[in-house]
Amino acid sequence: MSVQTKKEKRITINTLKKMKQSGEKFSALTAYDYCGAYAASDAGVDVLLVGDSLGMVIQGHDSSLPVTIEDTAYHVRCVKRGNLGSLLVADLPFMSYYTESKSLENAAILMREGAQMVKLEGGAWLAETTRLLSERGIPVCAHMGLTPQSVNHLGGYQVQGRDPEQGQTILKEAKVLQDAGASVILIECVPAHLGELLTQSLEVPVIGIGAGAGTDGQILVWHDLLGLYPGKAAKFVKNFLAGSDDGIQGALRDYVSAVKNGTFPDSEHSYL
Ligand code: KIV
Repeated sequence: MSVQTKKEKRITINTLKKMKQSGEKFSALTAYDYCGAYAASDAGVDVLLVGDSLGMVIQGHDSSLPVTIEDTAYHVRCVKRGNLGSLLVADLPFMSYYTESKSLENAAILMREGAQMVKLEGGAWLAETTRLLSERGIPVCAHMGLTPQSVNHLGGYQVQGRDPEQGQTILKEAKVLQDAGASVILIECVPAHLGELLTQSLEVPVIGIGAGAGTDGQILVWHDLLGLYPGKAAKFVKNFLAGSDDGIQGALRDYVSAVKNGTFPDSEHSYL
């Protein structure tokens, strides 16, 4: 095995903003380790997320709630070593941002390990935290719609924003977070028309997962893209390994080009 030597183009928040302005779609993928990060960034994935989905796909828990800041910091360290220049985002895990000072302290841990942006789950209640972090140089990705850290409050992993009033609330709160300084909004499991409305209404880049084809970028979980996670996959999941003629590298490249040319997600992988 040889040590990483390649250096690719560096993606920053400005790259994503320019892509939004020019209408070029960007791809994102979760990453948890050195080789995964290397392969994904080498295949052209623009954003790597050290997601707290690691609680399920790496640790085997039934939710992301048991993940700690130490777990996340460890995986950020591993991913940073393999990353060839994708924007590296890390999740602040459950209860690591329950006060403003906790959020600063824990975000600083992840940034020192190599994260370039932190992701938090929630709506307008996070406005002050978002302002505090971004004013101190920590870019924020606000994760809205289905927020898995609140699975017990939501009563399950269900599509959000089907009710037009709930959809309007998500839009209003996304604007509050954008005004508070959020650099990116990630929207999970909402009808495609709501994903598109958010994307058209916000100035910041919008990343979708199960939010239709109308968002600026798409994200998938590494294990879902390769069909590795046991059990029934969510509707928005596509196994790119199944159609690859070049193993994992081919699957990653196919994902990147399907996002770029707008063929993923299609209606079969969207909530209409
Ligand atoms: O933790 C994670 O992997 C995520 C993605 C599902 C967006 O938040």
